[in-house]
Amino acid sequence: MGFVEGKIVEEKVFGGKVFPKTLLPGNTCDLIEMVRGDRQWLSDLLQQHGAILFRGFGISSAEDFAHVVEAFEWDDMPYMGATTRVKVTDRIYTANEAPLDQLINFHHEMSMFKEFPSKIFFFCLEPSPEGGETSILPSHIIVEKMEEIMPDFVAKLSQVGFIIRLSTATDADSGDKVISKTWKELLKTDNQMEAEKRALEKITCNSVEFHADGSAEFIFGPMDPIRELGGRRVWFKPMLGYTSNERDIQISFGDGSPCPPEAIEAYKKILDESCVDLSWQKGDVLLVDNLSSQHARRPGKPPRVILVSVCK
Ligand SMILES: [Fe+2]
Repeated sequence: MGFVEGKIVEEKVFGGKVFPKTLLPGNTCDLIEMVRGDRQWLSDLLQQHGAILFRGFGISSAEDFAHVVEAFEWDDMPYMGATTRVKVTDRIYTANEAPLDQLINFHHEMSMFKEFPSKIFFFCLEPSPEGGETSILPSHIIVEKMEEIMPDFVAKLSQVGFIIRLSTATDADSGDKVISKTWKELLKTDNQMEAEKRALEKITCNSVEFHADGSAEFIFGPMDPIRELGGRRVWFKPMLGYTSNERDIQISFGDGSPCPPEAIEAYKKILDESCVDLSWQKGDVLLVDNLSSQHARRPGKPPRVILVSVCK
């Protein structure tokens, strides 16, 4: 195989596996051809490590990135989430149109939808001059550490579950927030009955509440945010809002009792201590296993441009 194993300063080791695995060019630099030649090996590697960083291959355009994605031969998946993405070329979108100074908190991509991607590709067209890292972490580590630090909390979760209330944007929101879509934009209808029907078809919510400000709340659960995916127990549903500022999420136990703040604090601490903040270099391609790893965006500055593609 033509790949050479690389090492980045940010990497960490979990259960003997480096995270992310970094691959560099060997005697050839044609990433598209190399992926075609080593597709199965790369797929196995992704399963073992949870994320692979391809660095130094000279990928320089959205079209090149699309060819790299296609070389893996995984099916494309349309994006349906509540943030705004702009299509750049076939299969390729901007990662998020929200202002770069906002944090996007850790999550599994589209984890509140019935159908969610198994893999997500990121590509750095332009790095942030400062900050703007994409952060990743293995989700099973969160489960292991929460069980260690907050065993009673995790036990109660498995007994009574969580209720999660997620809010959409209001009519007055200017679109400069991470959760930028109203329910009308998200569900592509302005009829509440039709919107609820579509929500129940596509989203894992149990009910929808509509509010006078034009927002809606999707109510999920009671359900356990921990689930088994790809042979591991991962923290699949969000405990935190998608940003640090917005009250876009409310959580309580399934029996109606409040979620203890110390559990939220323990969860945040685990994310901070266990994550890898990947400093982008122009041309980097990062492949993340969405079944095993969460991702986040650190605040950055223009002209940061990260493109994404999601696969079934
Ligand atoms: Fe995401």
